[in-house]
Amino acid sequence: MRSSCVLLTALVALAAYYIYIPLPSSVSDPWKLMLLDATFRSAQQVSNLIHYLGLSHHLLALNFIIISFGKKSAWSSAQVKVTDTDFDGVEVRVFEGSAKPEVPLKRSVVYIHGGGWALASAKIRYYDELCKAMAEELNAVIVSIEYRLVPKVYFPEQIHDVIRATKYFLQPEVLHKYSVDPGRIGVSGDSAGGNLAAALGQQFNQDANLKNKLKVQALIYPVLQALDFNTPSYQQNVNTPILPRYVMVKYWVDYFNGNYDFVQAMIVNNHTSLDVEEAAALRAHLNWTSLLPASITKNYKPVMQTTGNTRIVQEIPQLLDARSAPLIADQEVLQHLPKTYILTCEHDVLRDDGIMYAKRLESAGVEVTLDHFEDGFHGCMIFTSWPTNFSVGIRTRNSYIKWLDQNL
Ligand SMILES: *[C@@H]1O[C@H](CO)[C@@H](O)[C@H](O)[C@H]1NC(C)=O
Ligand SMILES: *[C@@H]1O[C@H](CO)[C@@H](O)[C@H](O)[C@H]1NC(C)=O
Ligand SMILES: *[C@@H]1O[C@H](CO)[C@@H](O)[C@H](O)[C@H]1NC(C)=O
Repeated sequence: MRSSCVLLTALVALAAYYIYIPLPSSVSDPWKLMLLDATFRSAQQVSNLIHYLGLSHHLLALNFIIISFGKKSAWSSAQVKVTDTDFDGVEVRVFEGSAKPEVPLKRSVVYIHGGGWALASAKIRYYDELCKAMAEELNAVIVSIEYRLVPKVYFPEQIHDVIRATKYFLQPEVLHKYSVDPGRIGVSGDSAGGNLAAALGQQFNQDANLKNKLKVQALIYPVLQALDFNTPSYQQNVNTPILPRYVMVKYWVDYFNGNYDFVQAMIVNNHTSLDVEEAAALRAHLNWTSLLPASITKNYKPVMQTTGNTRIVQEIPQLLDARSAPLIADQEVLQHLPKTYILTCEHDVLRDDGIMYAKRLESAGVEVTLDHFEDGFHGCMIFTSWPTNFSVGIRTRNSYIKWLDQNL
């Protein structure tokens, strides 16, 4: 009896130790976030073990676990019709709103889900619910793209998939089939999906046949650069759930099928040190001492190494490609981008990627709405229903859909 009490106490203490992480009191629902983070961390650890045992790639194992939390087959209600199909060989899930009174032509959003280019699916409950809400509340057609993931494919295949599906959708006969207004189409995505949406926006802009086909872009805590892992938000949120800095850097390395041995060096910006000539001209595009306001930079100091590791960008030149890092695109590419919405969260390593992109777009003459949430954390917008319902999840989603309603 006594020994089982001791054992139980020890287990509880161990669980508490595992779950507890110091969080700022300003984050939304901190206890719930700790539990969500502990669940995600244990799934990552199980996946790493599976990888170590040689049973499967850790990202395949992790995605299997994520999907087992709830994949939904296509379904329909009185308000929304849901269909799984493919657009030029790329799987998509289409949500068609059917609110009354009926409109002759609907608005539309091409949606790209997040998950580090490696995880999640348009069909999991979280994204299904988000797109359903968008279709219903906007009475719109939402095309959610099931692009292929790491480790099946690597950069730039994810971009090719979203471009192929979107180009197919934009054909007059396809828009006609779905009763979509060709002048009221937007592109959107969260996290790595926001990265792909931003890359798609820039690619379309440079293609005369596709220019001006998108009315808006809406980027939710997007990933926009891999050159500086020491922006104030990266420094402030080094260990913040659910995206600590080293996890983000590993997603980048995986996206390029690169070598994990570089992760520690990249964390200290050794890949973009002053002796890396390839990075010299690009560094000015993400110079946060001039792009970010003093309220954000506070007392954080730039991390700029004099000598680093010149091998990293030689082996992974994709790190300096604007298709992977839309923030470093030239001003000429930015200036004709459509009206833009960027949502950022205070407790997120990617906060400053979004704020810097907003600033660069504004300087290029693009109309930008920067929607910042002081109690937000990375990924919060998909966490709106029980048991993973967060107050900031609901507020971010409402704010995002409201912006689309007013601007699309
Ligand atoms: C960064 O580069 C410097 C100079 O080559 C080296 O001394 C240092 O160990 C590197 N840091 C990491 C974490 O790789
Ligand atoms: C960044 O901007 C600051 C302030 O405008 C300037 O002093 C600095 O030289 C710039 N650094 C780079 C690398 O462009
Ligand atoms: C989450 O949902 C439950 C059950 O509907 C509710 O009691 C709780 O207040 C919600 N929490 C938040 C943060 O929205």
